Amino acid sequence: MTMTQEKPVKPASDPKSQALLEQRALHVPRGVSALTPLYAVRAEGSSLWDASGRRYIDFAGGIGVLNTGHSHPKVVAAVKKQLESGFTHTCFQVVAYEGYVSLAAKLNALVPVKAGHSNKTMFVSTGAEATENAIKIARAFTGRPAIISFDNSFHGRTLMGMTLTGKQKPYKQNFGPFAPEVYKTPFPIPYMGITTKVALEGLQNLFDTQVSPDSVAAIIIEPVQGEGGFNPAPAAFLRSLRNICDKHGIVFINDEIQCGFGRTGKMWALEHSGVTPDLTCMAKSLAGGLPLAAVTGRADIMDAPQAGGLGGTYAGNPLACAAALAVLEVFEEEKILEQAVELGHRLETELRALERDFAGVGEVRGLGAMMAIELVKSRESKAPDADSATKICAAALERGLILIKCGMHGNALRILVPLNASPEELELGFAALRDSFEVVYSA
Ligand SMILES: Cc1ncc(COP(=O)(O)O)c(C=O)c1O
Repeated sequence: MTMTQEKPVKPASDPKSQALLEQRALHVPRGVSALTPLYAVRAEGSSLWDASGRRYIDFAGGIGVLNTGHSHPKVVAAVKKQLESGFTHTCFQVVAYEGYVSLAAKLNALVPVKAGHSNKTMFVSTGAEATENAIKIARAFTGRPAIISFDNSFHGRTLMGMTLTGKQKPYKQNFGPFAPEVYKTPFPIPYMGITTKVALEGLQNLFDTQVSPDSVAAIIIEPVQGEGGFNPAPAAFLRSLRNICDKHGIVFINDEIQCGFGRTGKMWALEHSGVTPDLTCMAKSLAGGLPLAAVTGRADIMDAPQAGGLGGTYAGNPLACAAALAVLEVFEEEKILEQAVELGHRLETELRALERDFAGVGEVRGLGAMMAIELVKSRESKAPDADSATKICAAALERGLILIKCGMHGNALRILVPLNASPEELELGFAALRDSFEVVYSA
């Protein structure tokens, strides 16, 4: 049986971190990979301190969870208050609490909804659970079995999440068989020659050869693909998809788990296209580091499952709801969306400069502050260069910058720095990034 081979993490530079790494290897399975040898001790804003006391600038944000930064004082205070003068758990289905309902009401007002309709929201704990539940809801509403998702997509690590996911290695490899009635179609990636036209022809071909549109309950799409390489779906494609869903009574599921919550300069990435979703999945930056996810959508669709059909023991944990309410206040008070737009411009300038100076950069792409750099062996061949991407991440870490990759071939560098990073943190981070490019490409 073949196994995905994760490269062993480089030894840590100090004895304490090295000892922790050794304990990890002893007690945690290798499937839970380690992208860095760091052990966190403290984190604040866009900075993290490891067991050796060294400060790192965090351009990964716990994979897009920290759009409002690590340990935001408002979030910390809200969680403390809930912890010290409230309760930690009741199970919402057994005994309700205000935080859950107030947060649902706020999200219902924030997510666009078809004219003449209103939204409802349910909470779960992880992004994968959100996509799972969106599929359950869409099936209950339509009474249809089939689901369509996209090549290069990522929707989670549960059975349905994995099945929806359009990236084999390492998420699906050796984990089949997968759930039935899930179909894949091309995602438009112009850099790879997959234009909107080509992607729409692919979908039509799927309808012609595999599954009739009147059997399809839902199409699920990330308006900007995350794990798959920070690929923004062209607005024209999203609008066509909306029309196809309307024509055939298919539920449009908008997976904003990575691209939502302000990352692209608007609250929801789909807003850039003017398309209104039926259901929206969110998680990550919703609760500033606490585990919380949600499905928000048209009330008539959300109400389709029978009473007791949705929920979960920990779903909508009171501490996480308190954190999310504080995150929404921070969005207002600190004008996070405006900061995101500004950060997007800054990223564009910094990354375009790298593109200008290093021939290994094949493309700089993204939307707002969700930007990635695709590394290639040559601009002509566009052959992915995962090796340089890995080397740049390692060089960045040596220079005090946490940087992670994405893309079908692990050859893109993605930036998910908190949207409210300070000028000093950004200076340090971008200087380390450029320095890492220089070191790797001059070697
Ligand atoms: C677009 C998207 N959907 C779903 C998920 C799954 O979320 P979680 O890891 O919280 O289960 C992710 C996680 O990276 C994601 O990026």
